[in-house]
Amino acid sequence: MSEAPVELRRLRAEEVARFQSTMPSWNAHEYAHRVEMQERGLAVQLVAWVGDVAAGRGMLVLAGHPEWSASAFREGCAEIRDVGVADPFRRRGIGSLVIAGLEREAADAGADRVGLSVALGLDEAPARALYEKLGYRFAHGPFVQAARLVGDDGAGMPVAGVCSYLVKQL
Ligand SMILES: CC(C)(COP(=O)(O)OP(=O)(O)OC[C@H]1O[C@@H](n2cnc3c(N)ncnc32)[C@H](O)[C@@H]1OP(=O)(O)O)[C@@H](O)C(=O)NCCC(=O)NCCS
Repeated sequence: MSEAPVELRRLRAEEVARFQSTMPSWNAHEYAHRVEMQERGLAVQLVAWVGDVAAGRGMLVLAGHPEWSASAFREGCAEIRDVGVADPFRRRGIGSLVIAGLEREAADAGADRVGLSVALGLDEAPARALYEKLGYRFAHGPFVQAARLVGDDGAGMPVAGVCSYLVKQL
């Protein structure tokens, strides 16, 4: 049987549970919160669906969002976050499709530059290759990016990495 085509669209409130079942996040509320931010015009959460399966995702954060980063402020750009493609779907162009969709959303929101931070470790080599291919160029860094992700039980999970900030002129 042939696989369903990839469909890229904004995440809707009624799809959050289905999204979480195939692409789980660190807590049950994160994506409902993102949909709220999207409804307020402060973010866009795109998901690439293959049938009922969430194969890829990425978020755009716009100026005015409470999590708009110091780097995005410094560069005066909209910011791409949390791009990911599920293992079985990698190297099929889905990451590129998600980023192209986020760039269109940024342009529609009036941004002429988009930025993102990428960690400098070995695990992020595919992401660095992807961003380089799509025209993202070094803007500033390195800097330490740290966050505390809070799980459903209230326990905090610290995450940190040494990152560079890349920017693309749209
Ligand atoms: C990075 C990631 C999103 C790429 O998604 P993807 O759907 O596989 O990417 P694409 O198929 O669109 O790849 C486009 C190009 O990126 C580069 N690329 C992607 N994965 C690569 C890899 N593993 N090694 C080298 N280059 C790679 C290639 O140039 C590729 O073009 P090609 O396949 O014609 O050679 C995916 O590997 C991923 O989810 N990684 C883990 C999460 C992550 O690191 N997210 C980024 C956080 S900053």
